[in-house]
Amino acid sequence: MKNLGILLSGRGSNFEAIARNVAAGKIADARIAVVISNKPDAGGLEIAKRMGLEAVVISSKGKPREEHDREMVAALQQHKVDLICLAGYMRLLSPWFVQQFPRRILNIHPSLLPAFPGLEAQEQAFAYGVKVTGCTVHFVDEELDHGAIIVQKTVPVLDTDDEHTLAARILEQEHVAYSEAINIILQGKCAIVGRRLVTNVTSG
Ligand code: GRF
Repeated sequence: MKNLGILLSGRGSNFEAIARNVAAGKIADARIAVVISNKPDAGGLEIAKRMGLEAVVISSKGKPREEHDREMVAALQQHKVDLICLAGYMRLLSPWFVQQFPRRILNIHPSLLPAFPGLEAQEQAFAYGVKVTGCTVHFVDEELDHGAIIVQKTVPVLDTDDEHTLAARILEQEHVAYSEAINIILQGKCAIVGRRLVTNVTSG
């Protein structure tokens, strides 16, 4: 049984999709050990409580990054977390944090990376005029929105879209993509060659 740790700062819809899939057995042999928010008013905390999951606030307000990260890492270790899923966690991790969990931190980003990293990726893509965008689940490394890609889903940009309708369709795909990526990593039958994640590799 693998312990998942979820880090979030807001609404928590990606977390909820993961939690539902765990509860339904669609993410096998895993449990959500802890949900940690750096914001006391994050909607995701309510979802966690409603689902009977351990929910913790470690406020980042006014704290230097390293100090906050030390508290976060201590809580994750205390809950014996095997895999960390950033799900709308709106804070950069320090290199030290990343080094504590090599290849064990995932993030979801609402664009087809490496296009449109950073904030408001859906709006960036819409304003740029791309015809196809989507979402990316990737490993977290020491650079923003940069680690090896695990799953991507494409979403067409329609003539009738505005940035809100586009973001909503991307979000639907995010909810599918994240659980798919978690399953790939937990099954362990993958290797990273250069930057490429190659699946169906027999481990051992
Ligand atoms: C999502 O768009 C995700 O891609 C980005 O932050 C947003 C979080 O939404 N990293 P939610 O809190 O999961 O609903």
